Amino acid sequence: MATKFVLTLALCRLIVTVGLMSLDPRELIGINDHRFSLDPAQLESASRDFGGQNQAEPLAIFHPTSADDIRGLVQAAYESGHGWAVSARGHGHSINGQAHAKNGVVIEMSGSKQLPRVDESLKYVDVWGGELWIDVLNYTLRYGVAPKSWTDYLYLSVGGTLSNAGISGQAFNHGPQISNVYELDVVTGKGELRTCSEEQDSELFHAVLGGLGQFGIITRARIALESAPQRVRWIRLLYSNFSRFTHDQEYLISLHMLPAAQKFDYVEGFVIVDEGLINNWRSSFFSPSNPVKISSVVGANGGVLYCLEITKNYDQSSAHTIDQEVGELLKELQYIPATEFTTDLPYVNFLNRVHKAEVKLRSKGLWEVPHPWLNLFIPKSRIDEFDKGVFRGILGNKTSGPILIYPMNKNKWDERSSVVTPDEEVFYLVALLRSALDGGEETQTLKYLSDQNRQILRFCDDAGIKIKQYLPHYNTQKQWMDHFGDKWPTIYQRKMEFDPKHILATGQRIFQPNFRTYTGSL
Ligand SMILES: Cc1cc2nc3c(=O)[nH]c(=O)nc-3n(C[C@H](O)[C@H](O)[C@H](O)COP(=O)(O)OP(=O)(O)OC[C@H]3O[C@@H](n4cnc5c(N)ncnc54)[C@H](O)[C@@H]3O)c2cc1C
Ligand SMILES: *[C@@H]1O[C@H](CO)[C@@H](O)[C@H](O)[C@H]1NC(C)=O
Ligand SMILES: *[C@@H]1O[C@H](CO)[C@@H](O)[C@H](O)[C@H]1NC(C)=O
Ligand SMILES: *[C@@H]1O[C@H](CO)[C@@H](O)[C@H](O)[C@H]1NC(C)=O
Repeated sequence: MATKFVLTLALCRLIVTVGLMSLDPRELIGINDHRFSLDPAQLESASRDFGGQNQAEPLAIFHPTSADDIRGLVQAAYESGHGWAVSARGHGHSINGQAHAKNGVVIEMSGSKQLPRVDESLKYVDVWGGELWIDVLNYTLRYGVAPKSWTDYLYLSVGGTLSNAGISGQAFNHGPQISNVYELDVVTGKGELRTCSEEQDSELFHAVLGGLGQFGIITRARIALESAPQRVRWIRLLYSNFSRFTHDQEYLISLHMLPAAQKFDYVEGFVIVDEGLINNWRSSFFSPSNPVKISSVVGANGGVLYCLEITKNYDQSSAHTIDQEVGELLKELQYIPATEFTTDLPYVNFLNRVHKAEVKLRSKGLWEVPHPWLNLFIPKSRIDEFDKGVFRGILGNKTSGPILIYPMNKNKWDERSSVVTPDEEVFYLVALLRSALDGGEETQTLKYLSDQNRQILRFCDDAGIKIKQYLPHYNTQKQWMDHFGDKWPTIYQRKMEFDPKHILATGQRIFQPNFRTYTGSL
């Protein structure tokens, strides 16, 4: 098996390196191994991602039919004299080429359809690493159950979000998605297929969670389930006073230890710096029957508004108490009176809400544009300064996309995982989810937005605000060492142990490839 891989790869390389394009590569590959593809359209597609900012074409695409296929591929790369890079690609929704494999092989994870399996006790579901969360949800709902912790958008792969953290408005309560995994099957950079959990092979388990694809490829994840709610009460409240806004958010997440009836199920929020945003992504919420007169509520705050977004789940058995429970909670909050917007919808529609916006943007050709996104974790103690310096400073009055802000409880994050968060009990996510439109106004160009991102990072640096990037992107190992901070020795150790040749996820640019690259002769 391994020899066959080497041969096939060598052929790919020969064709690419020497340029023997007159030989039909598909024919060669077809004869050797139907799981490889050199189809230019597939290569092109794997060379791009949601960020749309850089391209790197792999030598070949690999379509696995099982975890063992992946094991064989990585083992061949590991054992060959001239290694090659291997990157799992979930749904390619990275921003900065994290799933690319320059001079290597991209494994298309999401193509392989392996049915999930819900355990008889309904406590967990086993899913293929390339499964999309939307399909996990669709499947578990047949059993009346669903995962507990989500991302805002569900067309992301399980392996892709677990390699980062996976966060949304449930994280304050259930922790990120990586805190809701019981067991994993992982192919390490040595080509071993291992089952790991907190009890078994725990170092690998913790390494892979939030591990940016550096230590292994997740082929199966066992994900915690809860009974699926039927409906969602979805509420938005406006603030012009930032300290009141954050006070209320922090109050709401402090209720995490209370029984379900006495807390919300989801706490997020976003910043509105221009009226245009109201007509932008995700804002169908403010419907014509529900108009927001921004001018009537804008305070002395440089026109910036903050919107608290909360939900409460319910079903038939709790339908008669939902109004009262929500009422009790809202009484404690200090939003601008009469700026309460409420929607009621099925649970699935709430979870899949961003897809609606996607369909709309796609129809206008505004989905496949560059996305210079920046996601930051900010310690609670410095969030006021960030507001003054960024929301009411650097951003000006055009944002080109939604800006999310919500706090999380660090005690819901497992310190043993590979993800890094600020050194405070409560920290915020600030997500600047902007779309660039070249040819539009200057403030909407990729260059303008990228410069602004750098300016924001520099502002934090100068002010000594110890942020951590979420979905981090750096170009040098020195920067990565700063990012990981105290965790760097652990990360380094884990890399030496689980991927000593630095084969995996080279698109993250954390470790230089540690193998002799192929030079052209068989
Ligand atoms: C519209 C949109 C909304 C988003 N919303 C949220 C959100 O609410 N919360 C949140 O936390 N994130 C969110 N994200 C970010 C998202 O979680 C990450 O970009 C994630 O990496 C995307 O998953 P993917 O399957 O497309 O990963 P890819 O881009 O394919 O891969 C990401 C990284 O993970 C590695 N990888 C992929 N699969 C595996 C695997 N099976 N095993 C090991 N490593 C693997 C890749 O090699 C790469 O390094 C959003 C992204 C987009 C585009
Ligand atoms: C859920 O799965 C069914 C088939 O099992 C399919 O018809 C339906 O379109 C899926 N829904 C979504 C939202 O993907
Ligand atoms: C914002 O709210 C805080 C706390 O209620 C208050 O002390 C402060 O004066 C308010 N700021 C403005 C500008 O109204
Ligand atoms: C915001 O826009 C107005 C014009 O619409 C302009 O006068 C003002 O200077 C802008 N403010 C900032 C901070 O860019």
